[in-house]
Amino acid sequence: MAASRRGAPLGRLAGRVALVTGAASGIGAATAVRFAAEGAAVGLADRDEAGLGRVAKRIADAGGRALPIVVDLAQPGAADRAVTALAEAFGGLDLLVTAAGIIRRHTALETSDAEWDEVVAVNLTAVFRCCRAAIPRLRARGGGAIVTVGSGWSLVGGPRAVSYAATKAAVANLTRALAIDHGPEGIRVNCVCPGDTDTALLRNEFGQLGESPEAGIAGSAAARPLRRIGTPEEIAAAILYLASDDAAYVTGTTLVVDGGGLAGG
Ligand SMILES: NC(=O)c1ccc[n+]([C@@H]2O[C@H](COP(=O)([O-])OP(=O)(O)OC[C@H]3O[C@@H](n4cnc5c(N)ncnc54)[C@H](O)[C@@H]3O)[C@@H](O)[C@H]2O)c1
Repeated sequence: MAASRRGAPLGRLAGRVALVTGAASGIGAATAVRFAAEGAAVGLADRDEAGLGRVAKRIADAGGRALPIVVDLAQPGAADRAVTALAEAFGGLDLLVTAAGIIRRHTALETSDAEWDEVVAVNLTAVFRCCRAAIPRLRARGGGAIVTVGSGWSLVGGPRAVSYAATKAAVANLTRALAIDHGPEGIRVNCVCPGDTDTALLRNEFGQLGESPEAGIAGSAAARPLRRIGTPEEIAAAILYLASDDAAYVTGTTLVVDGGGLAGG
């Protein structure tokens, strides 16, 4: 690890500017905190203003740099505004993590047009728009990295989750398509596919299925070789790997982080 002039070790993202969507909660929040601890200046994009304030304070209290950006990414123009605000505040952009997401646990017959459109807007269209807004900024720095957040259900289907599974599979293939187009410009694009991870989204999801969070978590844990669900910090560590120079030769891939849930058996 390189050292700063005062001798303190520099982080794995020293000198980088990163935008993390969904940064007010769960995986996005853990990623923003970890990126800041690794030396990045971090833009925190989310529609939850109070949550953003808490994460920004955590980062500032630890001596990091963070810019909260309150934005509803489902709205056209929102991704462009978030990228522009961060790039102007911190002088450019090197890294993008798209963690904002929602889930609706319904079959096709239970899914209204409005619900389908909402899930597609947040989980897919906003990811596309964030990438489209970020790529010229990354290119201007001579390259960079994008990490999308998919799901185990980017790779296999799941019950009563048609809109979610469709958008998460699309995110994985959007990731591959972007990697092909922008690899020659030094831009790497990869997708982290978490399994069940203890966040507000997961606990709410069990509620949608009529289960208590405790029962849902116990059932999910029992189905995995590691016999537990993940923590947001464990997903953030995988995102950090893909965003960092340790993954310099890794692009267009999906990295499953799920305690072995998709391993079979
Ligand atoms: N928790 C899991 O078990 C799990 C598993 C697989 C994939 N994921 C994915 O990880 C990502 C993060 O999920 P999480 O579990 O940390 O959830 P979370 O609910 O804790 O965090 C998601 C964040 O996204 C924000 N968000 C939602 N819609 C938005 C919008 N329109 N504009 C701006 N911000 C918006 C929310 O305000 C929230 O802060 C999601 O893409 C999710 O699909 C989660």
